[in-house]
Amino acid sequence: MHASGTSTNTLTIVDNRTGKKYDIAVENDTIRAIDLRQIKVNPDDFGMMSYDPAFMNTASCKSTITFIDGDKGILRYRGYPIEQLAEKCSYLEVAYLILRGELPNKQQLEEWTQLITTHTFVHENIKKIMDGFHYDAHPMGMFVSTLAALSTFYPTAKRIQDPAERDLTFFRLIGKAPTLAAFAYRRSVGMPYVHPDNELSYAGNFLSMMFKVAEPTYAPHPVLERALDVLFILHADHEQNCSANAMRGVGSSHVDPYSAAAAAAAALYGPLHGGANEAVLRMLDEIGTMEKVPAFIKEVKEGKGRLMGFGHRVYKNYDPRASIIKKLADQVFEVTGRNPKLEIALELERIALQDDYFVKRKLYPNVDFYSGLIYQAMRFPVDMFPVLFAIGRMSGWLAQWQEMLQDSEQKIARPRQVYLGSGNRDVPMLSKR
Ligand code: ACO
Repeated sequence: MHASGTSTNTLTIVDNRTGKKYDIAVENDTIRAIDLRQIKVNPDDFGMMSYDPAFMNTASCKSTITFIDGDKGILRYRGYPIEQLAEKCSYLEVAYLILRGELPNKQQLEEWTQLITTHTFVHENIKKIMDGFHYDAHPMGMFVSTLAALSTFYPTAKRIQDPAERDLTFFRLIGKAPTLAAFAYRRSVGMPYVHPDNELSYAGNFLSMMFKVAEPTYAPHPVLERALDVLFILHADHEQNCSANAMRGVGSSHVDPYSAAAAAAAALYGPLHGGANEAVLRMLDEIGTMEKVPAFIKEVKEGKGRLMGFGHRVYKNYDPRASIIKKLADQVFEVTGRNPKLEIALELERIALQDDYFVKRKLYPNVDFYSGLIYQAMRFPVDMFPVLFAIGRMSGWLAQWQEMLQDSEQKIARPRQVYLGSGNRDVPMLSKR
């Protein structure tokens, strides 16, 4: 707070209740909400707060990881455009970039890959935990639970201020996420678990753990292996989304990172977040045929449901990841054959992009609109979709978590509330109620 008129980098607020004037410092086009606190009518007032349900206009941190310009449809990790990363890099390179801040050189990438690859195995007892789930358990439920269970296997991960422990957690969580994911799938279809094959790439090994049957060595199709790797890149981080916010918020209590990652994965499970790709496929199934598309759109406009895979809190333009995925879909379909639901998706997009309801609200396809079609063509069952998202997002969650820990301005996340309940009242005896 500065005296009125001393700086141009201030915001002047006049409190019409008192006639008092306040100059509030502006930094990075932002004011600090705590600076509002001195705005009071009476000296013993609590002071002014900002009210922002769902954080529509509140920056909860400073970050150097991911940049999004939602109006222009721009996404960059550490300054690099997502389009270039998806074209020129592997997922593990991007994970290094997100966590370490710079792209790795050849030697750094080899070491990084080796460290992650040698942390892909899980303790045998994890299989017993997997076996305990009901036969029709959702793989995302199994994934979230076994992620949390990992914290009991690595108690020293609690030493979150130790950079070596944090690094070990990075290798373990990025290495083991595909293993837990594939085990959850194998459990759900009653197939034996497949151990990681350290000769394969990150995505190739995951495909092997998912789909290997009796062949001595699983050979992933290179186009599908690359497509999956690109999908992991596209999902790696997305700044302060619901699950990153969960990772930071839960991590701010200084719980171990496995528990925080389980909380983030739980947030991702919801249909308004990572569960949306699953919801898109179910929606396409429900629509069924091209002729039913206009009637479906009409129902959405009447508020009877949402066009899943459309709209985004930040993007008010085409989600750049959706454009990359749409191109990727063509390459995948050349190998797998065209997913018949693509026609329905394209028609939904065509109608929505010219319909006033969607245009006015700036609703465009998001990352989930087409990713599910690719996953399905690659033989992933629909309920594995959020789990696939979580594998890619693991590096982002970890980077957000570490950034939060290293930020001296951060404390345990604890929002305020506007209390509108009863005033003080006496508890009547049970017989009098
Ligand atoms: N279909 C139809 N209408 C929609 C949709 C949609 N998919 N999304 C938003 N709207 C409408 C709302 O009804 C609202 O209309 P109104 O102003 O007449 O009330 C307006 O657009 C604004 O919607 P909000 O819900 O306020 O937008 P918000 O930013 O809170 O929601 C969200 C963003 C949750 C992504 C929303 O667009 C949605 O539910 N989309 C479908 C689910 C989805 O695809 N989620 C994936 C997001 S990407 C990700 O997590 C990876």
